[in-house]
Amino acid sequence: MAVLVTGATGKTGVAVVEALRSRGIATRAASRRPGVSVEGVEHVRMDWSDPTTWADALDGVDAVYLVGPYAAADNAGLVGRLLAAAPDVRRVVHLSIMGVDKLPTAIPMAQWEADIRESGRDWTILRPNWFFQNLEDGFAGPLRDHGVLEAPAGDARIGFIDTSDIGEVAAIALTEEGHGGRTYTLTGPQALTYSEALAELGQAADRELRYVALAVDEFAGRLSEGGAPDWAVVWQLALHDLIRAGEYAAVTGTVEEITGHPPRSLGTYATAYANYWRLGGLAEGGLGQA
Ligand SMILES: NC(=O)c1ccc[n+]([C@@H]2O[C@H](COP(=O)([O-])OP(=O)(O)OC[C@H]3O[C@@H](n4cnc5c(N)ncnc54)[C@H](OP(=O)(O)O)[C@@H]3O)[C@@H](O)[C@H]2O)c1
Repeated sequence: MAVLVTGATGKTGVAVVEALRSRGIATRAASRRPGVSVEGVEHVRMDWSDPTTWADALDGVDAVYLVGPYAAADNAGLVGRLLAAAPDVRRVVHLSIMGVDKLPTAIPMAQWEADIRESGRDWTILRPNWFFQNLEDGFAGPLRDHGVLEAPAGDARIGFIDTSDIGEVAAIALTEEGHGGRTYTLTGPQALTYSEALAELGQAADRELRYVALAVDEFAGRLSEGGAPDWAVVWQLALHDLIRAGEYAAVTGTVEEITGHPPRSLGTYATAYANYWRLGGLAEGGLGQA
């Protein structure tokens, strides 16, 4: 069989590609700026905003990992149109998000879920919790270099998940029977506050990493000043409302039920990426302090 992975160079896409490659599945990895093809993984250019790029990406694939076109114009109908252009695709695994029914339509994730459910395909919807990997970029970008994460999360707990677990679950759902018509809420093994998570990450990296709770208005202002479009600001504020309300404190056993092993813990992530986090500290003059 052959699988198309959209968003293949993104946080979950990379993990899905790796999980498929390690299972020996022929994989086509699609994004606007494709990576370099290696044995078993063909990288192709595909742009949600340019339907002329879809046919080559879809040619000959049986299953698709679908990361919705959240930044594309007129995106509500794009998932339905892509599926209509892919009548031979039997299986679709869609990356949605925990709390999708309470989030605004700034990203039409609920619409995409509905289109996929009604597509007549063997569909699986993944609704993950907050990624560990969110600590590495976006509004958390300054954390690695400056040791401080500022966000309006209060002291809420979050069931952080490692994207490699999402990759593994997706690869299984894409290639094995028994996952059609299922919606999976995926989380890590424990719910941590940002302060707890950063203390553990900092310990592994031998440096102080701190969380500062930000007021909502200040967070919104910083996102806008940083160039985030209005839809992205609305989306981030809504996500943080859910986080502060405790909705992301959920922990489920779904990753273990599907993969046969417990989800990776923050400790595992912290050990695996200790050098990444340590080097950020060195860039700030950590060597001089030694
Ligand atoms: N972060 C979280 O904690 C979290 C939790 C649950 C769910 N989610 C959901 O995860 C999704 C994002 O997935 P991700 O984090 O794996 O990806 P990501 O890291 O945000 O990267 C986006 C990927 O999509 C590609 N892409 C962007 N625009 C494109 C376009 N117009 N046409 C084709 N490809 C495009 C990008 O590559 P190019 O730029 O090269 O095209 C990249 O490969 C969102 O829908 C978000 O709601 C996130």
